[in-house]
Amino acid sequence: MAVIGQFLSSIPWWAYPLVFLALLAIRDISQKKHTIQHNFPVVGHLRYFIESIGPELRQYIVANNREELPFNRRQRSWIYASSKKENNFQGFGTDQDIYSSGYTFIKPALLPYKLPSGHPNIANPYICPSAKVIGEYHNRRQPYLPKSIINISGMSFGSLSAPAIESLNIGADKFGCYHNTGEGGVSAYHKKGADVVVNIGTAYFGVRDDNGNFVMEKLIKLCQDNPCIKMIELKLSQGAKPGKGGVLPATKLTQELAEIRHVPLGKDVISPASHSAFSNIPEMVDFIEKMAEATGLPVGIKSAVGKLEMWEELADLMKKTGKGPDFINIDGGEGGTGAAPPSFADHVSLPFVYGFSSVYKIFQKRDLNDKITFIGAGKLGLPDKAVMAFAMGVDVINVAREAMMSIGCIQAQVCHNNTCPTGVATQNKWLQSGIDPALKSERLYNYMKTMTKEILELSHACGYEHPCQFMMDDVDVAMGDTNKTQSLRSTYQYQKTPVKFEGFQKLLDSPYLGGKNAH
Ligand SMILES: Cc1cc2nc3c(=O)[nH]c(=O)nc-3n(C[C@H](O)[C@H](O)[C@H](O)COP(=O)(O)O)c2cc1C
Repeated sequence: MAVIGQFLSSIPWWAYPLVFLALLAIRDISQKKHTIQHNFPVVGHLRYFIESIGPELRQYIVANNREELPFNRRQRSWIYASSKKENNFQGFGTDQDIYSSGYTFIKPALLPYKLPSGHPNIANPYICPSAKVIGEYHNRRQPYLPKSIINISGMSFGSLSAPAIESLNIGADKFGCYHNTGEGGVSAYHKKGADVVVNIGTAYFGVRDDNGNFVMEKLIKLCQDNPCIKMIELKLSQGAKPGKGGVLPATKLTQELAEIRHVPLGKDVISPASHSAFSNIPEMVDFIEKMAEATGLPVGIKSAVGKLEMWEELADLMKKTGKGPDFINIDGGEGGTGAAPPSFADHVSLPFVYGFSSVYKIFQKRDLNDKITFIGAGKLGLPDKAVMAFAMGVDVINVAREAMMSIGCIQAQVCHNNTCPTGVATQNKWLQSGIDPALKSERLYNYMKTMTKEILELSHACGYEHPCQFMMDDVDVAMGDTNKTQSLRSTYQYQKTPVKFEGFQKLLDSPYLGGKNAH
C-alpha cells in the first residue's frame, strides 16, 4: 500500500489530467454511438457542452432586448419588475422601430378621460371587472361576472408543480381573478380561495370512469363539493397543439396526480386527440347544455382556430336554438403548452389576431356577440397587446406563461422534460422546494395589479373609462412605407360590436360578481 502511495505521489499533478484525457480519447475512438466524438476525440465533447448551454448564452449574452421568442427580454423584464414592485419604466424613449410594418399604434384622445370624483378607480386603481355577465343570456342558474379582465389561463397540476399551482391560486384569490385548472383536474392546490374554472379536456381527468369516459355524476359532485368552481370550460383544443392530445410520461406521474386524474400509476397518461362524449357540433351543443343544466354553471369552449366551417355551423345552431356555449375562449397559435411536437406548436392553427377576428365575425353576422363573452389568450399578458385584443372584441384575457413568469419562470423552455430549474413546471421535489407560495403569490398579485392599472391608464389616455369601450379604430397597424397605416377595422374588415357598459359601480354592484375574497 505504502509503495502505491509513494508511486502516486511521485507523479506530478499535471499528469493526472493528461491521463484522464488520454483515457477519454481511447474511449471516444473505440465507441461508434457518437460520430463527432469518435472522429474528434476529446474536443468532440465541447460540441455537446456548448450546445447544452446555448440557450443560456443566447438569452443572457448574445440576444438583444427585443430578439427572443416567445417573450423577449424587455417583455420578461416588465413582468419581473411588475411582479416585484420594482421600477418597470423605460428611460430615454422607445427602442422599437416604430416605422416597421405590422407595428401597432394605440391612438390617444386629445384630452384623456378624467375619473370623476367618487369613481371606484380613485380608491382602487387596480380593479376592473369584465363588462359582461357570463351565462345570463342562457339563463344559467349561477351566472358569473369575472371581477377581473385578466385571469389565469389553464395550466394543469402535472404540467405545473404543486407549489406553483398553489402560488397562482393564492395570488388569484388575493387579486380577485379566476384560476383555470387546465385539463389535469381539480387538486387541493386549486382550492386556496380563488374562483376556479374547470377545464375539461378529451381525457376528462377527475370526471371519468376507468375507461376514460366522461361521468356526469362526478362533475356534479365536484361542483357541489367545491363552490369555488364558477364556470366549466370544455377544451376542444389549444393554440400550441390543436388536434393533438397530451402525454404525461409515467416518470412524472405521482400517486397524488394519479388519484386526482383518476388514472392508473406506472403508465403514460394519454389524452386522446378528440372527445368521446360527442362527435359533431349538435352533439357538442347538447353536451354543453347538459353540463350547464346539471351544474347550473356557465359552460364555454376553448379552441384554437383553423378551418371555419364548423364555427359557422355552431353559430347557425346557436342562432336557431338559443343554446350553446356561454363563452368562447380563442387561443392563438402562439400559445404555450407543457409539451407539443414542434410541427404542431410552430405551424398548426392561426395566430391570435387572425383566428380571433375570423371567429368574431362569424358570430357577429348572426348578431350573437353581445350574448357571448369572448375570452382571448396568446401572449396577451402585456398591456399594449391586451388593449389591441379589447379593441378587437375580447371581453376577458387569460394569461398562462406571463403568470408563470410572475412566479419565477425564466423561459428555460424545458416544461416537457421535468427539469424546470425554477420548480414551476416540474414534478421534481428538489426543484420545487425553492418555491415559497407565500412570496410567489404576492408576485402574481403584483403583476395582476400592475397589468390592470396600466390597461386602465391606456383606456383613460384614449378617452375611455373601461377597456371594453376600445373600438377597432382606436388601434392602427403600420403597413410598411407606401401604404402608411390602417386601422384594425380596415385591416380585419369588421367593426367590434359595442359592449353595453353602464359604469364601473354597476359592475361592482352585480350580484354575480366573482372574486369575493379579493383584497
Ligand atoms: C405549461 C403550460 C400548460 C398548459 N396546459 C394547458 C391545459 O391543461 N389546458 C389548456 O386548455 N391549455 C393549456 N395551456 C395553454 C394556456 O392555457 C394558454 O391558452 C396559452 O399558453 C396561451 O396563453 P399565454 O400566451 O398567456 O401563455 C398550457 C400552457 C402552458 C404554458
